[in-house]
Amino acid sequence: MTRDELAARRGVETAVYQPAEDSALLARAAVDDVSGADRVLEVGTGSGWVAERVAAETDARVVASDLNPHACRAARERARGLAADEGSGFEVVTADLVSAFRDGAFDVVLFNPPYLPTDPDNEWGDWMERALSGGESGRAVIEPFLDDVGRVLASGGRVLLLVSSLTGYETVIDYARDRGFAAEKAVEESYPFEALTVVRLTL
Ligand SMILES: C[S@@+](CC[C@H](N)C(=O)[O-])C[C@H]1O[C@@H](n2cnc3c(N)ncnc32)[C@H](O)[C@@H]1O
Repeated sequence: MTRDELAARRGVETAVYQPAEDSALLARAAVDDVSGADRVLEVGTGSGWVAERVAAETDARVVASDLNPHACRAARERARGLAADEGSGFEVVTADLVSAFRDGAFDVVLFNPPYLPTDPDNEWGDWMERALSGGESGRAVIEPFLDDVGRVLASGGRVLLLVSSLTGYETVIDYARDRGFAAEKAVEESYPFEALTVVRLTL
């Protein structure tokens, strides 16, 4: 039985990544960076918590997306709650990375990607794996994201990407630089097992 099947039998939601330290760091960097007129996309929104923070704490127009339909359902519910409480919400789109979006559509793209290097023999094969696992290198989702994200950025746009020391900070930055991005650290926090950085990428 998969973890999704077990969770469904127990009525427990384990298919959606819940906000953690990495989510909080990305939200902090985003709220500091985003300004009123910005069009913001959060890729891999999970529960929708980061998108909600940005929609609630800035005047930006926010779109949130995820590959996982359970995550999109949870994020839509959160968006409805925000709209009911504060009159501002965000849209949710089911999509693989930025493939669904048109060229130049966003001023800011946020992503807290799956980044844990994972032994192929120990992968779980469920939605939580898709939220956590970056494949053997830890960069299996980050690299295709960096290959295409420049396409959806408007002129002067920027990417805020969460990078863990477990993924290889310098390797990720080199990959981004090879695709034409300039990189600077926005915020950084150290934890017992990893350092988390939100890197700000501009073309
Ligand atoms: C580490 S979780 C982050 C969730 C949320 N943004 C947060 O910070 O709490 C990574 C998210 O990326 C999503 N994801 C993984 N691969 C994806 C892809 N190819 N396209 C879109 N979303 C993806 C997962 O479903 C998961 O919700």
